[in-house]
Amino acid sequence: MIGVYDSGVGGLAVLRHIRRLLPNADMVYLADQAHMPYGVRSLEDVRRLAEAAVGSLVVRGADTVVVACNTASAAALQHLRSMFAVPIVGMEPAVKPAAAATRSGKVVVLATPTTFEGAVFDDLVGRFASGIDVIAYPCPGWAAAVEESWPAGSEAAIAAHLAPVIARGVDTIVLACTHYSFLDDAIVAAVGSGVTLIDPAEAVARQVVRVAATGGTGTTTYLTTGDPERLSRQIERLLGEQVVVEGV
Ligand code: DGL
Repeated sequence: MIGVYDSGVGGLAVLRHIRRLLPNADMVYLADQAHMPYGVRSLEDVRRLAEAAVGSLVVRGADTVVVACNTASAAALQHLRSMFAVPIVGMEPAVKPAAAATRSGKVVVLATPTTFEGAVFDDLVGRFASGIDVIAYPCPGWAAAVEESWPAGSEAAIAAHLAPVIARGVDTIVLACTHYSFLDDAIVAAVGSGVTLIDPAEAVARQVVRVAATGGTGTTTYLTTGDPERLSRQIERLLGEQVVVEGV
């Protein structure tokens, strides 16, 4: 069973790619919505929450865990791999593909403030983006907005927030928060099609295919630490599926 975890609905963007690639896999999705947003918490705090969340997925029988949250991955991936014996796939800002894609030499990474505080981001820039201007650009409130109602009606706010970096000549945008996957069309509409958008959700799903055991009957169980009916409505809005959610 593949456990997929995020602070909220962002990880659903990864889950839908895994489901497409592995139609028969049994999956359990955990949204830690009681503690969302993670992106303004301290690294220590997020590490503690991630340990509890991944622990609960392992107890439920997950034999592969996907930390479908950049913030939790930045804060805790090493720690989680040392704590749990199952393979753990995480997210990281796609700095390397962005450095390869840019022609203007200017790239912007969109993520939560906490993701930029971790050592991972600076390390990736140092290793893969020498000579490239990589702008770390937090997007306050975006993840919470995706939980509430975005992408509908989000274009103007997105355009206003991104205008200063686009004006600096950025031609490549990295989505380094899983919630932002649901904003891909709105971002393209806001900044224009001359800008390349890099979303690693599908590449992460392919990595899951490489490490996860095959087999299963194609079930998906949805869990939240928050309000189950709310998550059920969110899944209908974002994935177009009607599902029953369990509270944990
Ligand atoms: N989805 C999470 C990420 O990928 C962050 C959302 C939050 O702030 O809780 O970083």
